[in-house]
Amino acid sequence: MRTLVKNIKSLLQVETTPRQKVCGADMAHIDHIENAYLIVEDGKFAAFGPMAELKEQTFDREVDATGRMLLPSFCDSHTHLVYAGSREIEYIDKIRGLSYDQIAKRGGGILNSAKRVQEASEQQLYDDAMARLEQIICFGTGAVEIKSGYGMTPEAELKMLRVIRRLRENSPLTIRATLLGAHGIPMEYRGCQERFVDLVIEKMIPQAADEGLADFIDVFCDEGFFTVEDTDRMLEAGARYGMRPKIHANELACSGGIQCAVRHHALSCDHLEFTGEEEIQCLLGSDTMPTVLPGAAFFLNMQHAPVRRMMEAGLPVAMASDFNPGSSPSGNMQLVLSFACVNYRMLPEEAINATTINSGYAMGVSDQLGSIAVGKKANFYLTTPIPTYEYLPYAYGENKVSRTFLNGVEV
Ligand code: NIG
Ligand code: FE
Repeated sequence: MRTLVKNIKSLLQVETTPRQKVCGADMAHIDHIENAYLIVEDGKFAAFGPMAELKEQTFDREVDATGRMLLPSFCDSHTHLVYAGSREIEYIDKIRGLSYDQIAKRGGGILNSAKRVQEASEQQLYDDAMARLEQIICFGTGAVEIKSGYGMTPEAELKMLRVIRRLRENSPLTIRATLLGAHGIPMEYRGCQERFVDLVIEKMIPQAADEGLADFIDVFCDEGFFTVEDTDRMLEAGARYGMRPKIHANELACSGGIQCAVRHHALSCDHLEFTGEEEIQCLLGSDTMPTVLPGAAFFLNMQHAPVRRMMEAGLPVAMASDFNPGSSPSGNMQLVLSFACVNYRMLPEEAINATTINSGYAMGVSDQLGSIAVGKKANFYLTTPIPTYEYLPYAYGENKVSRTFLNGVEV
């Protein structure tokens, strides 16, 4: 199957020499070709260039993109989109001034979602999550990482991971699965959380590995949640089963999570609101992708990660949605682009790099996704007729994605 997309107003984020990630000052640059063509063959990008250089040939299908731009699909490297029910009542409690702690004491927060996931059937979780996947496809996402973490018992965590496996089998999206056994501390383990850590190590990790359900391992390593010592133990256990870490770190305090991630060669460390010079120096020269979640910082009205300083220091930065019912009930990566520009003062080019190639790296897929390069998977979208690519973050709240292609097929 050969498809030609012709008359593309601007073909963005093209690469002739594909990179794994983009760092520092390079993030302010994206390559693009005006009035371009793109050829897709058997689900992969086969060729691209200016229309003037398109040679006479035959295709199975032609798409006329006059007036529209073409971009590689977003990679959303951090979500919790398998969940049951919603938590808008807590959101109102927060508006009324209740603290995170007070909400947790009333049975809210992560434990609220855990209770609902434990009670939900696998089919219900699957149906709800599949509907969310269909929604994010319409917003331009082409690859998504999905975590467990609302199970909190070995049975319920495994149930979540099996749902993710089914999503992976039945959705055209590229999906990666993460075991987040240590997301919160169940009530019965308060005061003896090392016993819960034992449960994660002795039951959850081996069982998930046994069924081949998790690519990565995650821990909520932060003040009031899991300590660096807990995290060290769980990441070592995960590594024995080939699960590379991607951890939640430094959302609530300078808790040593970033240093812990780097020590364990984590693929990414995520959130990073509390990041100082020491953490930045530690990340420099490491293979860990600093990942910021602008939707959660917006929704919880938190301080922002020092993204500009990170880029000035030469670091790459990735951005993801954190789609979850508590701190970021949206998986819309176009909104992430807008938050990136407004709240982190990123240039549109930096925001595009953060949500495509760098977030692809943060979920281990940047060799096949995150840019338009020959041989990469043809996951891309055509925009509505827009004047410039800067319009993408500018016109926040408007869906600028009009047609989506995954594995070269329109969905
Ligand atoms: O990534 N920070 C930890 N976990 C989630 C929020 C979970 C929840 O409130 O349900 C996050 O923001
Ligand atoms: Fe998260």
